[in-house]
Amino acid sequence: MSQSRMKAVIPAAGLGTRFLPATKAMPKEMLPVVDKPAIQYVVEEAVNAGIDDVLVIIGRNKNAISDHFDAVPELESKLVEKGDDKKLQQVLASSDLADIHFVRQGEPKGLGHAVLRAKAHVGESSFAVMLGDDLIDERDPLLPQMIEQHAKRGAAVVALMEVPREHIHLYGVAAVEETDDEGVVRITGMVEKPSAEDAPSNLAVIGRYVLGPDIFDVLEHTEPGKGGEIQLTDALQEQAADPNGNGVFGVVFRGRRYDTGAKIDYIQAIVQLAVARPDLGPELRDWLKDFAETL
Ligand code: UTP
Repeated sequence: MSQSRMKAVIPAAGLGTRFLPATKAMPKEMLPVVDKPAIQYVVEEAVNAGIDDVLVIIGRNKNAISDHFDAVPELESKLVEKGDDKKLQQVLASSDLADIHFVRQGEPKGLGHAVLRAKAHVGESSFAVMLGDDLIDERDPLLPQMIEQHAKRGAAVVALMEVPREHIHLYGVAAVEETDDEGVVRITGMVEKPSAEDAPSNLAVIGRYVLGPDIFDVLEHTEPGKGGEIQLTDALQEQAADPNGNGVFGVVFRGRRYDTGAKIDYIQAIVQLAVARPDLGPELRDWLKDFAETL
């Protein structure tokens, strides 16, 4: 499957309860990370991996997301009038990025249920699922390697990351075997949000997946699991356990990742990304050093 034809699906219909009250009227994927909403970074990551068709799964408060990716003629003409080309380019960047589509989830019945809503748009092709609150630093590209492994093995590929044991209960966790490819593992089992004692490894599933259309058949009959939600992890566990299937593989990511769905991680993400920016970094770095001394 050529990269240019692969579509991306961004589920953004969760309730975002970890980020209340900010997420009461706004999806967490729209929270600004420095000066762009989190979801824009994810769309840019898809575009950088050669994907130009993006489907966003939206829930309540959908307008904020679709408005952000829409053209705003009155704002654009004001900036043209003022001759403010820099700001004009920033405004145009989000509406010209990719071909962006939306579908509603209805009720937030889980990530697996959200992904199943992409079936009609995706059709018979492979596709990438990218969680809208999980950011991968553009200096450490991950998706191209996942797409390559998917093409090579004809199997579902998930991104894995080593996490400290005290955080393992927040993730789907994989039991794995080595493969001949450095940094690529075969997944022999997956469990959603296990306790530290029950976790089969310290390899957590992070928010990037490259899946074949066969996942939809599995999701159609996946029963609600942990938290009463239809879990993508449970559907992948079924694929991993199927002796007649191609299995499920993991690409172990060792780069920079930012989780913007939880408050402390979100604050850290903003600081790290702002420090790396040429326009903000030097001033912020100096201030941070002074501030740290007052702690
Ligand atoms: P999370 O579990 O992180 O999202 O789901 P949440 O349920 O919104 O967050 P909390 O725990 O209440 O704070 C992972 C991703 O799946 C999407 C979310 O928007 C997020 O990007 N999701 C989750 C859906 O699109 N639909 C759902 O029913 C559940």
